[in-house]
Amino acid sequence: MRKIVIVGSGHLARAVVSRWQQARALDIHVLARSNKYLSKGWSLDEQALVTFDTSVLRDADLVLLAVKPKDMPGTLNQLKDEIAPHAVVLSVAAGISIDQIRKIWPDHAIVRTMPNICAEIGRSVTGVAYYHITDHDKAWVNDLLTLLGYTQEMPEHLLNPMTALYGSGPAYVYIFIDAIMQAAHELGIPAEHSRSFAAYMVQGACEMALTDHDKTLGQLVDEVVSPGGTTEAMLKVLRNAGWQDILSQALQAAGERAIQLGQNVDPVKAPS
Ligand SMILES: NC(=O)c1ccc[n+]([C@@H]2O[C@H](COP(=O)([O-])OP(=O)(O)OC[C@H]3O[C@@H](n4cnc5c(N)ncnc54)[C@H](OP(=O)(O)O)[C@@H]3O)[C@@H](O)[C@H]2O)c1
Repeated sequence: MRKIVIVGSGHLARAVVSRWQQARALDIHVLARSNKYLSKGWSLDEQALVTFDTSVLRDADLVLLAVKPKDMPGTLNQLKDEIAPHAVVLSVAAGISIDQIRKIWPDHAIVRTMPNICAEIGRSVTGVAYYHITDHDKAWVNDLLTLLGYTQEMPEHLLNPMTALYGSGPAYVYIFIDAIMQAAHELGIPAEHSRSFAAYMVQGACEMALTDHDKTLGQLVDEVVSPGGTTEAMLKVLRNAGWQDILSQALQAAGERAIQLGQNVDPVKAPS
């Protein structure tokens, strides 16, 4: 069985480990640098995969880098003498380019990807860009990413906007659901039902957006709106408040931040 080492024991690493463990028997190891993971929801089975011994990398076939962008240079320098020469490198770090990784690890196949936290339940959307990888390894990595959800190869320059739209995306949706729950509370819906009502409503609308391909989203909206009815009243308030502009500004800010995260990091200057 090919060996997978995940570097980092944070939120994204846990989501990936959780899904991969449930989906398939895989040889997974997690390289941590501290015990902080113990407060990040790792189950006992997941904790059993954790090691602090960097020699775990010496015969790894795949190394998934799940550290913050600011920690990438230090991590790459720290581990450059440990990583197996044949290992495929898979990075999820926002804003960090394949070229930046190659400056420190020049001889590896590199895969830059942007999943989201819904990887935990196999419902991520994941953009992926490959560098210098064999067809065999590419098929293997694609298979692993597909276990995390819908996966699509994309030109690397689109991964920064994809970070803003789809990597950060679940947070926008959670805020939206939370706002509906707040309104439900004010309108007297019992709290024990309001999260399920709101989340299932979003899920149902999403399923229709995915399956009703013969209708535009505008047509799907029109099917909910009756003249003078509740939906029309709601849409009027949202449009008057400029909600599409607000969302567009938020996505723009996230996209610019993804670019900054990569620019603020120069692996060449990082300490070795
Ligand atoms: N969270 C998301 O929804 C999401 C989605 C897509 C992509 N990402 C990307 O995933 C990466 C991780 O994000 P996160 O949210 O999981 O962050 P996080 O919870 O802060 O996890 C980062 C982990 O990296 C560990 N780490 C740092 N340097 C290390 C080293 N040299 N050796 C071993 N472990 C090291 C940290 O250790 P300590 O615990 O000791 O600090 C921490 O466990 C980021 O690059 C982010 O852009 C995240």
